[in-house]
Amino acid sequence: MPLFLFLGTGRGPATSLAVLPKETNWGHKEARVRQVLSSAADIETKKMGTVSCSTCKISPGADAETNWGHKEARVRQVLSSAADIETKKMEKPYLVLVISTKEIVSRFTMNIIGSCAFGLDCNTFIEESSPFRKYGQKFFALDKYRMMIRLFMLVFPNACNKMGVMIRPPDVSDFFLKVVKGTVDYREKNNCSRKDFMQLLMDIKNDKLRDNSSLTLEEIAAQCFVFFIAGFETSASTMTFALYELSRNQKMQDKVRREINTVLAKYEDRITYEAIQEMVYMEMVVNETLRKYPPAPQITRQCVKDYKIPNEDVTIEKGTMVFIPILAVHHDEEYYPEPEKFDPERFTQENKGKRHPYAHIPFGEGPRICIGARFGIMQFKVGLTSLLKNYKFTVNKTTIEPLKISAQASVLAADGEIWLNVKKI
Ligand code: HEM
Repeated sequence: MPLFLFLGTGRGPATSLAVLPKETNWGHKEARVRQVLSSAADIETKKMGTVSCSTCKISPGADAETNWGHKEARVRQVLSSAADIETKKMEKPYLVLVISTKEIVSRFTMNIIGSCAFGLDCNTFIEESSPFRKYGQKFFALDKYRMMIRLFMLVFPNACNKMGVMIRPPDVSDFFLKVVKGTVDYREKNNCSRKDFMQLLMDIKNDKLRDNSSLTLEEIAAQCFVFFIAGFETSASTMTFALYELSRNQKMQDKVRREINTVLAKYEDRITYEAIQEMVYMEMVVNETLRKYPPAPQITRQCVKDYKIPNEDVTIEKGTMVFIPILAVHHDEEYYPEPEKFDPERFTQENKGKRHPYAHIPFGEGPRICIGARFGIMQFKVGLTSLLKNYKFTVNKTTIEPLKISAQASVLAADGEIWLNVKKI
């Protein structure tokens, strides 16, 4: 029986990224959690768009009931730290600051996800040794031993399940479980609630009316953990590559900045959800970044029944693991001539309409498509708007070009740092 197949495009039933307790009767429960969380991700996305980009005070329009005033202030605080990058240093005599792009943007995305998933301030800009950062990085660090385990899990998923093989370092799981327990305890004892993922999961946990589908504390921790892990590194990777490409091409960078300024002028300089939706060129830049640098370069599926590929003499047998190489599809010249060229014009409405819809699948496809897609895109746009509005970016000569893609990273990343010069406008 064949074990593997590599496909150009494809969809089908799923294997999951989710890190869930093995013993869980997850089918029904999972559907419910997925439904609740994907709408929650969209609500958070809308709220995230309401960010004022001036100073770091709570906006007058803040919604006390959703506690968003506080959250907004926090998101803005994070953004301004990211965007200002120690503004004082940027004033004279320092005119240009050199930054490690990935380092800065992953702190930004981690703070946002930490706030939305756990309801906590990860403080990664202020606390150099924030445990969220430490354990987040540890999860993604792949040494040879963990790479072998990962390969083994891909080739023999059933055997690994039976043997209880885990890829997560145990201290990472322990940390997240402790954080979730602490937060749930605190909220329950103090009878306080907040409109975030954690609260939705706690509501499911406490919903005694639904047998079988209420959640245990471990399951809540697993869900929060998945959100955190699936959310921060993917978004940071996208923002890093976008800033790099825009730094290489000043005309493109100016075009995005012009759009930002024109749109924000209509919204009293506030980065609102509506303003972000109007940024059409920015959307094209995100799409092209996700095309050229898909953070998840491939996804897997397991075939659940024999399937004959139409017009081909190939049948995929039940049980076969199928690899869908997103990176390869996105670099296929048939769909994207000169695939190494960064060209947002590929994503005008007209040009998109000429391509197969599955020629662009950075978030996967089918029933297991990424549930944080809109959240990720919104986060990208809010971050980029805040940065490009205030700063000009160019590539620092210490960045080794052409960029090489790291063979070891779990989420697509450059081999080595991407250093950029940042200058206040
Ligand atoms: C640019 C940003 C992002 C990219 C490119 C991305 C990409 C992906 C991909 C390729 C998958 C697998 C889909 C499949 O197998 O068909 C996935 C799954 C997932 N993503 Fe994202 N993601 C991003 C941001 C986020 C964010 C911000 C969150 C959370 C807020 C998130 C939460 C998830 C979850 C929970 C899953 C597992 C879904 C399931 O198995 O049912 N992602 N993502």
